[in-house]
Amino acid sequence: MIELKNVSFAYVSEDVLRNVNLAFGPGVTAIIGPNGSGKTTLLKLAAAIYRPRVGEILIDGVNPWSASETVKLLARRNVVYVHEKPIMLRGSVADNVAYGLRVRNVPAEEVAARTEEVLELLGIKHLAHEKAQTLSAGQQQKVALARALAVRPKNLLLDEPTANLDKNGWETFIELIKELAREGVCIAIATHDRLLAMRLADRIALVENKIVTFVESPEHTG
Ligand SMILES: Nc1ncnc2c1ncn2[C@@H]1O[C@H](COP(=O)(O)OP(=O)(O)OP(=O)(O)O)[C@@H](O)[C@H]1O
Ligand SMILES: [Mg+2]
Repeated sequence: MIELKNVSFAYVSEDVLRNVNLAFGPGVTAIIGPNGSGKTTLLKLAAAIYRPRVGEILIDGVNPWSASETVKLLARRNVVYVHEKPIMLRGSVADNVAYGLRVRNVPAEEVAARTEEVLELLGIKHLAHEKAQTLSAGQQQKVALARALAVRPKNLLLDEPTANLDKNGWETFIELIKELAREGVCIAIATHDRLLAMRLADRIALVENKIVTFVESPEHTG
């Protein structure tokens, strides 16, 4: 669970988000709102990539900005943020997926097993040995998601995860997220994909005019 309490944030002088109070609890929170309203900013605050100007964020009860370096690292490791524009590291798809596990000191055998498992889940096992940086946008998006899922984070923050996916990729994505939500993972998804929000959202956060509002608790259709 990630909580934001009275959070305000500015990149330069003017606030982009003001006095945000919300919790990304178990299940799916869809974050919607116009271009430039602050959805990505909100996710990066929740991931402790950006530090609030005012207020605090709690990752599973821990404020990563006030804790010691060790506690901060542990808190951050419970969160995975998947970028709007996925960043591929040099090396193969399998290397990219394994990366998050290696930095978490997961034993080599388990790294291999989990890498294979998520590549299979996302239907990209055949790409395992391709160079990640030369893949198409949609393929890279799947690799980024595979890298995130391999870590089995308790908190998963996804920024426009379906922007480049084809119909099959989209359906696979929806089913995967539904399963994670059932398992109690806290998932927040910034999206312009209305069908995604309808199928997945347990709650919706609307970001507009610097303010975040919970607009409804839809009974999703999926
Ligand atoms: N690194 C930055 N430096 C300065 N201003 C920024 C930076 N990143 C974003 N902004 C500004 O903050 C505001 C919110 O941007 P953000 O990327 O969070 O919007 P968004 O809701 O994710 O938009 P989109 O739907 O296009 O992805 C915008 O006005 C943007 O110009
Ligand atoms: Mg964005």
